Amino acid sequence: MIDIKNLSVDLKTIEISFDDFTFEKSKITIVSGKNGSGKTTLLKAIAGLLEYKGDLHVNGEVTYNSQEPVIFNRTVYENISYPLKIRKLDLLEYEEKIWDYCKILEMDHLINKNALKLSSGEKMKVSIIRSIIFNPDIVLLDEPTTHLDLDSINELGTLIRRLKKDMTFIIVSHNKTFIDSLMDVEYKIGGNHVLS
Ligand SMILES: Nc1ncnc2c1ncn2[C@@H]1O[C@H](COP(=O)(O)OP(=O)(O)O)[C@@H](O)[C@H]1O
Ligand SMILES: [Mg+2]
Repeated sequence: MIDIKNLSVDLKTIEISFDDFTFEKSKITIVSGKNGSGKTTLLKAIAGLLEYKGDLHVNGEVTYNSQEPVIFNRTVYENISYPLKIRKLDLLEYEEKIWDYCKILEMDHLINKNALKLSSGEKMKVSIIRSIIFNPDIVLLDEPTTHLDLDSINELGTLIRRLKKDMTFIIVSHNKTFIDSLMDVEYKIGGNHVLS
C-alpha cells in the first residue's frame, strides 16, 4: 500500500503537485495524464529516486521498471536472476518461476542469449521479469507496452493479472487494450503545475 498526501516534487523549472491518494494492494492503478504531466516523476518519487515534499508512505518493497529498460551485458538468465543474486536467494528455488515467467512472455527460447543483442521489446520483457522475479510488494511499470507487439501486450496482461493478488501495481500506459484489460482504478495527473 502507498499513501500520498500533499505530495509535490520540485524539478527546479517546474513544481508538480499530486492529488492525495491511497494505492491499494491487489488493485491495479493506471496513472494517466498528458506527456509531461508528471507520471514518471510520480513513479520515481514513490521508488525513492527523487526528493519530494509532503507525505509519502510506502509500505513494502518497491520495484521500478523505467520507460527505457536498463540491460546488463549478460545473458537473459543472468539479467533476470540478478535481483535474486544480490539478495543472496537460492537461484535453484526460483528456477521454475524464471522459466514460467519467461514462457508466459515467450522469452524462454532466448534465455541463454546476450540480452544486449535483443530487440527493444524483448529487452523490455527481460527488464519486467527482472523487476518482479523477487516478489516485490509494489510494482511500478512506466509505459511497459511501448515496444511490445499486440501478442506480447496480451501476455504481459496475463502475467500481471496472475500476480496482482499479492502485489500493488501502478502502471503508466497509453495503450487502450492494455488499460481496458487491467485497470481497477485510475489516477489522473494534470493541472497541478506551478512554474518555479
Ligand atoms: N530532471 C528534471 N529536471 C527538470 N525538469 C524535469 C526533469 N524531469 C522531468 N522534468 C519535467 O517535468 C515534467 C514532468 O515530466 P515527466 O514526469 O517525465 O512526465 P510524463 O512521464 O508524464 O511524460 C515535464 O515538464 C518535464 O520536462
Ligand atoms: Mg514518462
